[in-house]
Amino acid sequence: MTQQTVLLRDGTSLPLVGLGTYGLRGDAGAREVAAALSEGYRLLDTAAQYGNEAAVGEGIRRSGLPREQVLVTTKVAGGDQGRGATTRGVQESLRRLALDYVDILLIHWPNPSRGLFVETWLEMLRLREEGLVRSVGTSNFRPEQLALLHAESGEWPQLNQIQLSPVLPRSEAVAFHREHGIVTQAWGPLGGREGLPGQIPLEKVARRHGVTPSQVALRWSIEQNIVVIPKSSSAERRKQNLDLWSFSLSDADRSDLAALALGEEHAWDSRSHEEW
Ligand SMILES: NC(=O)c1ccc[n+]([C@@H]2O[C@H](COP(=O)([O-])OP(=O)(O)OC[C@H]3O[C@@H](n4cnc5c(N)ncnc54)[C@H](OP(=O)(O)O)[C@@H]3O)[C@@H](O)[C@H]2O)c1
Repeated sequence: MTQQTVLLRDGTSLPLVGLGTYGLRGDAGAREVAAALSEGYRLLDTAAQYGNEAAVGEGIRRSGLPREQVLVTTKVAGGDQGRGATTRGVQESLRRLALDYVDILLIHWPNPSRGLFVETWLEMLRLREEGLVRSVGTSNFRPEQLALLHAESGEWPQLNQIQLSPVLPRSEAVAFHREHGIVTQAWGPLGGREGLPGQIPLEKVARRHGVTPSQVALRWSIEQNIVVIPKSSSAERRKQNLDLWSFSLSDADRSDLAALALGEEHAWDSRSHEEW
């Protein structure tokens, strides 16, 4: 299945659909990751915090794909922020993944109460020079937090991964990213384990196109060049999530989906929400 891609500013080409791996752990997790790669996924999203980097690395090896055909994203955990700790955290991630480099390294959450995210960012830029990391970015950063990184380093993150779906369109953040050449990546593009509220408009649009509500939600993101990383432990649902290229949304569809949008205050707020 041919996938469309977006380009990071550094020239890295990212498929618009990757695989989220939160909850895919151990041998079963490795099996699901290997299966997803055989089904056509080429972008994997993990994190030190998920406790599954070893399973993701094992899945890549079981798939038999050459390393350079798979893009691996991992994230610096809250407790690994700061000078020295960031490098040690990344070295540990690489050991668990059993890889020589990660393709994309993100700061998982800014955790502003510690005041370490700028130091962490500067250390990530050094790790990139050393070749342990190919592209650097952030997750859950607000525009003013991104601007601080730029002010202190002269460089914007390549990508910011944020909570985003038709229910949480995050329009201001997306516009800010676009203005500064930052690719937006959506976590929870299907609303996570609870799913997306608003099944009625999603089902209405899905019926028009003969697809599923999940496919409509994912298509809504990728049509804005937003990279989605839906997680699924089911081969059938993973296939659905990758099969988004046979239909496109009309103005009427988009206006039906706009009825789902909740305000920014419903998204996790990284000024106060911190994760370790
Ligand atoms: N940066 C961050 O702070 C952050 C936070 C949260 C998540 N993430 C990343 O983003 C990824 C995706 O987010 P998420 O896992 O929270 O949620 P999600 O991908 O929005 O939703 C996953 C849920 O949807 C179900 N599902 C998947 N495909 C489906 C389909 N076609 N039809 C119906 N149900 C479907 C899955 O169940 P089945 O597995 O049974 O199919 C699972 O319960 C994570 O795995 C993780 O890699 C990052």
